[in-house]
Amino acid sequence: MKTEIIKINNPATAQDELCRAAQILRRGGLVVFPTETVYGLGGDATDPDAARKIYEAKGRPSNNPLIIHIAHPEDAEQYAVTNEYYYRLARAFMPGPLTVILPKKDTIPVEVTGGLDTVAVRCPSHPVAHALIKATERPIAAPSANISGRPSPTSADYCISDLEGKVDMIIDGGECDIGLESTIVMLRGSTAVLLRPGAVTYDALCCVCETVELSAAAEGTLAENERPLAPGMMYRHYAPNAPFVLLDGAREAFIPYIQSRRMSGEQCAVICSAEEAKALDEKNTVIYGDPEDLTTQAHRLFSALREADVLGCDVIYARKPATDGLGLALYNRMIRAASHTVIKI
Ligand code: TXA
Ligand code: MG
Repeated sequence: MKTEIIKINNPATAQDELCRAAQILRRGGLVVFPTETVYGLGGDATDPDAARKIYEAKGRPSNNPLIIHIAHPEDAEQYAVTNEYYYRLARAFMPGPLTVILPKKDTIPVEVTGGLDTVAVRCPSHPVAHALIKATERPIAAPSANISGRPSPTSADYCISDLEGKVDMIIDGGECDIGLESTIVMLRGSTAVLLRPGAVTYDALCCVCETVELSAAAEGTLAENERPLAPGMMYRHYAPNAPFVLLDGAREAFIPYIQSRRMSGEQCAVICSAEEAKALDEKNTVIYGDPEDLTTQAHRLFSALREADVLGCDVIYARKPATDGLGLALYNRMIRAASHTVIKI
């Protein structure tokens, strides 16, 4: 299949391109598009065939459900059974990086929800995503636009390397702002269960919901043989090709540890801050931000994993991040990319 690649920076001046993309989606085709979190691999969420094509292009098992993307929070009415708590969350965080799991209506085929009777609903704030959903006049089902198991794509180039030839169109809308996927919440009455941490943090949810529970997968304590509440929150995910290892210890211990590994002849890549890279002579280092700057680390993590992979080393190291605020989302992705391999230093 030939993939058309187009650039859209401002939807207001790209009406023709958006119409073409919407037409592809309405005819059952696949369009990769930018969101504020990561790029999505989109298809018509009301079309079971489009869902099948998404699973095939991504190489993803079809029992791992897709998120449906809507233009306005109240559009959820057509596809899901909403309640007061959905609207509380919507008022606080939508449009934005929050996904809410609700009982589904028949308008969404089970092929989209991996056979579940619930559906994940998200209203993205990215102007291109919003304009595309509006032009399509349908909800768009979209997982992250990577080959299953690889780090989620935060720029169009990564989508092109993973999916060119497998989708009809890729819309390049520049780098994604946040860089980690949306926060996912399941409502149980007035309790919100946090299934996947993201830029809407645990503390932010606590300001809106009466009770917030952390699932084992969100906390990073899911056992290898345990089934997560969100089927996609597997034990191992986002993995680069080389083994990725988290180092847990004081800042002062990090540089000497890497140096000793190098001395022992190990070819290691390191994901770290600019200052740490300097201390390591900038050899096989990938900078992803200062430890205190969680926003930049989140923005850079997935590209850093891909860049580290290209260095072709035996192993990739990074420091285990703190787990408060946005740190929990960062830790959640890193611990799974590392298949839970943590070394105390
Ligand atoms: O930021 C995001 O959420 C991005 C952008 C493209 O919107 N999308 C994304 O989709 O990360 P995906 O498919 O890579 O991750 C969706 C996660 C999976 O872990 C899936 O198992 C879970 O959401 N999920 C979807 N529907 C669910 C449901 N009904 N019940 C439980 N978990 C669900
Ligand atoms: Mg994904």
